[in-house]
Amino acid sequence: MSQDILFSPFHIGSLTLPNRMVMAPLTRNRAGDGNTPHALNVEYYAQRATAGLMISEATQISPQGVGYPGTPGIHSPEQMAGWERVTAAVHKKGGRIFLQLWHVGRVSHPSLQPDGGKPVAPSALAPQGETFTADGMAPFETPRTLDAEEMPFIAAQYAQGAENAMAAGFDGVEIHAANGYLIDQFLRDGTNQRTDLYGGSPENRRRFLKEVVEAVLEVVDAGKVGVRLSPENTFNDICDSEPQATFDAVAEMLNSYHLAYLHVVEGDFVSGEKTLDYPRIKDLFGGPYMANAGYTKELAEKSLQAGTADLISFGSLYIANPDLVVRFAENAPLTEPDEATYYGGGAKGYTDYPFLPR
Ligand SMILES: Cc1cc2nc3c(=O)[nH]c(=O)nc-3n(C[C@H](O)[C@H](O)[C@H](O)COP(=O)(O)O)c2cc1C
Repeated sequence: MSQDILFSPFHIGSLTLPNRMVMAPLTRNRAGDGNTPHALNVEYYAQRATAGLMISEATQISPQGVGYPGTPGIHSPEQMAGWERVTAAVHKKGGRIFLQLWHVGRVSHPSLQPDGGKPVAPSALAPQGETFTADGMAPFETPRTLDAEEMPFIAAQYAQGAENAMAAGFDGVEIHAANGYLIDQFLRDGTNQRTDLYGGSPENRRRFLKEVVEAVLEVVDAGKVGVRLSPENTFNDICDSEPQATFDAVAEMLNSYHLAYLHVVEGDFVSGEKTLDYPRIKDLFGGPYMANAGYTKELAEKSLQAGTADLISFGSLYIANPDLVVRFAENAPLTEPDEATYYGGGAKGYTDYPFLPR
């Protein structure tokens, strides 16, 4: 099989990506004081700049949006200055990078909240299980239900985060509407039991995402804005009774904005199952489609050849292979990632993965 498409250029908005390989967003919990990116993070991103496009780790838009220790923000001048060093280093290496805009909603803990208050969510339903806090694992607590009047204010924080990201030199932003965080909590009926305009029908459940997209598009060109969804992921204890109908409605709604791309986590991280009709979601969206989860070089090329994706993002492979593009191009062996160093720590398991000798 020819391996042409993976290494061929692709245009999103005014950007030309030199290949179809995207570094997926990866939380690594290594930000410095004040959740500010620092020299180690600069080195990590610069190492991976040969990707066609990089998407930053999820980055909180507000102090309320934080969910774990050591994740970066984009709401303070210090955080913007830290990110500016990252984007400058990536650009110097010839790369392109979007920032992932994040609010975790209920997947937080009072110990992480600015006023020690309850995390917020569409409905007062706690996720099952425990979460990381500065003092180790702790049970999730029942969140506070957001008032409808608060929603425009949070949408405006996404827009402010986007504006800050562009000022810090990012090439665009990705709205994180996946993996059980705030926007996803609104999209799915397992976490959204509201009876107002933000709950009930798929049209109402997608309303908050629509408002966030429209707020972000006030400050950033559509060709520089992507959205990430994970229609059947159950990660963070989330579910939907009719995921195909919910996400068909979401893809249809996003169709009209001429966005840079739709990024879809296909399948469930937890069970490994993949049952939805993703080509249908791709067609309903109608623009560039970035597929993720479980892709190898071979699967990626197969999908590109079949036209079921335009871009493929790689997560765990990018953790351990900073030069993944060269390794794929040369069919070189891949380094296995060390899960023990995924979250938190220093250079070990972060910036010390080897490059092929040159
Ligand atoms: C350590 C780690 C951190 C992650 N952090 C994020 C994140 O910040 N934002 C996000 O949307 N997905 C995140 N994900 C999910 C990945 O982007 C990706 O969807 C997942 O790894 C599946 O892709 P893969 O099979 O290529 O690894 C993370 C995954 C891992 C392993």
